[in-house]
Amino acid sequence: MNNIVKKIAYLVLLLMTSTISLTSGMVVASEQEAAPVPVPVFRNAMTGVEIDFSFGKKGEDTEATKHFMITGENIYNQDEDVIRVGADLYMTACSGCHGHYVEGKIGPALGDSYWTYPLGKKDKGLFEIVYDGARAMMGPQRNQLTIDEMLQVMSYIRSVYWDKPEDALWLSEEQRATLVPAEMPADFREALENAARDKAVREALDKAESDKVALENATQ
Ligand code: HEC
Repeated sequence: MNNIVKKIAYLVLLLMTSTISLTSGMVVASEQEAAPVPVPVFRNAMTGVEIDFSFGKKGEDTEATKHFMITGENIYNQDEDVIRVGADLYMTACSGCHGHYVEGKIGPALGDSYWTYPLGKKDKGLFEIVYDGARAMMGPQRNQLTIDEMLQVMSYIRSVYWDKPEDALWLSEEQRATLVPAEMPADFREALENAARDKAVREALDKAESDKVALENATQ
């Protein structure tokens, strides 16, 4: 008699624990389904460290943002209405350093096919530079602009590209075939002439920076 009671108690206990583990298993499974799967993986342009999107200015989760986070494609490219808004944003957030005609100033020109960071030839890479920053004055823009606003700025930058169509790697092959490049800004021509001088200045600044770091390390 006593044995039977024990057996029943044991069975009840077994049933309870298996139900608990089953339900907790289900919770984990549904949580995994709900979590957004970030494909592709976005990384800092210099360090390669994966970008943490929990920081940064939050905005509306637009179709363009959602599409971009999954595919790395900017659906705003060649959309005239968005490009106009993107131009305004560019003038406020970027032109001070990159020039009013994207011709380059403190920061490099963004409408030619030369890239310090070649990953900028694709929209995923351009976004990584803008969102998470590069060297020196090129700070991360994640607190200034929402992801959607960055995509708008990017569509403006792409729209004023004046270099060879075959280097417009952010476009599909068909789009490249029909691309009519924008006019090269007069200031860029001038900037080309000054490029050698700027390069020397940049190298001097880099050297000053590394000397400073070396000095700091030595005095620590
Ligand atoms: C305070 C000055 C400053 C502002 C503002 C600024 N940039 Fe920059 N940007 C720079 C500098 C300097 C560099 C060069 C950094 C380097 O080589 O690592 C740079 C580099 C870049 C590059 C990489 C270019 C290449 O050839 O690889 C991109 C793209 C870029 N900036 C886009 C933007 C956009 C878009 C904005 C506005 C949302 C912006 N920047 C705002 C100074 C600035």
